[in-house]
Amino acid sequence: MAEIKIKLMKSAFYNEKETKEKLAKFVMEASFFSMGEQCRKFENDFAKKQGRKFAVFLTSGSSANLVLIQGLLNLGRLKKGDKVGFSALTWSTNVMPLIQLGLIPVPLDCSLKTLNVSPAEVEKKADDIKGIFLTNTLGFSDDIEKIKEICQKKNIVFLEDNCESMGSEVNGVKLGNFSLASTFSFFIGHHMSTIEGGMILTDDSELYNMLLMTRIHGWDRNLPEEEKKRMRTLHGIDDFYSKYAFYDLAYNARPTEINGFLGNSQLPYWDEIVFKREGNFKLFQYVARKNDDLFLLDFPHMNIISNFAYPVIAKDKGKADFYKRKMEEAGVEIRPIIAGDITKQPFFKKYVSETTTCPNADFIHSNGFYFGNNPEMNQGELEILCNALEKKQ
Ligand SMILES: Cc1ncc(COP(=O)(O)O)c(C=O)c1O
Repeated sequence: MAEIKIKLMKSAFYNEKETKEKLAKFVMEASFFSMGEQCRKFENDFAKKQGRKFAVFLTSGSSANLVLIQGLLNLGRLKKGDKVGFSALTWSTNVMPLIQLGLIPVPLDCSLKTLNVSPAEVEKKADDIKGIFLTNTLGFSDDIEKIKEICQKKNIVFLEDNCESMGSEVNGVKLGNFSLASTFSFFIGHHMSTIEGGMILTDDSELYNMLLMTRIHGWDRNLPEEEKKRMRTLHGIDDFYSKYAFYDLAYNARPTEINGFLGNSQLPYWDEIVFKREGNFKLFQYVARKNDDLFLLDFPHMNIISNFAYPVIAKDKGKADFYKRKMEEAGVEIRPIIAGDITKQPFFKKYVSETTTCPNADFIHSNGFYFGNNPEMNQGELEILCNALEKKQ
């Protein structure tokens, strides 16, 4: 195999050298490293940038998903045994919390045009499910406005896993703002890196307060003062015992000040990162559009596409193998388009007995792959990628 020249992840942080220098200085000067001021500032500024009221910073996108589902169960907004729809084409730790916490996962197939769940797919299951944990896959979405409408009409708890889509917009609204709550990942290679890190956003104050407890041990220490008092009075707990009073089921998914500091250092680059990812995506689409061996994705409803990685989907398996080889020979690192039909993954078969198949997700798995989209790609790298995307000779 040729040497890998274009890796999925190019650097640990955007503007790496300057960020590392700032980080070294921060580490030398700081005396407190557990969650504190840096994390709080990152939460406030991230919520403001995204346009939501509340943000809860955690150790990863996966822990954000787990804590969110636990928080909703604690509040009784979802109940053990409820059926919850999720995107079949997603990451393992989007659906795993549903299984771990006693919900019944109902896979929703994706559309071949958007790689995302369509309103028609939601309609098919809408009478049977109590919640939807939708993944906005690879920076894209289907008609999420319509999906939100269906959820409102049918009283379905609507959640977005936005770990792959920070900065994308549908009709001027950022993905992650269509639902009751949304999650983000700041793992290296995602839109913004805090090394490891995740966020939950919501406008719902009751859910926010519960998430603050569910994130850390189930205690009240991070609650707003008034809510703290309310909890202590409700449970008859005095100030002394409140130190170790635990109100509901929880985890320890507390980030460190190093992660918070990195979030604050990376946040000012948000617009630049999104702009560059979108520019690269437009270039790849321009080349792919001329190649009739490939399916062309189409997003007329999206005004910003903050692409996570570029998916190449060939019309048959032979063509897919050809373009995989072409990419590998050009030194491009490629990966499967997430988990394919997740119902075929070993963990899903082990824990979920009901069989549903998702033919589109399956087709994408066998006929597709992706390569990384990176805001720091140079001209030479873009040329290699465009050549590899051109129709076979
Ligand atoms: C859709 C989706 N959800 C959740 C995650 C998990 O995020 P993390 O790696 O921060 O745990 C990922 C990771 O790539 C993802 O793509």
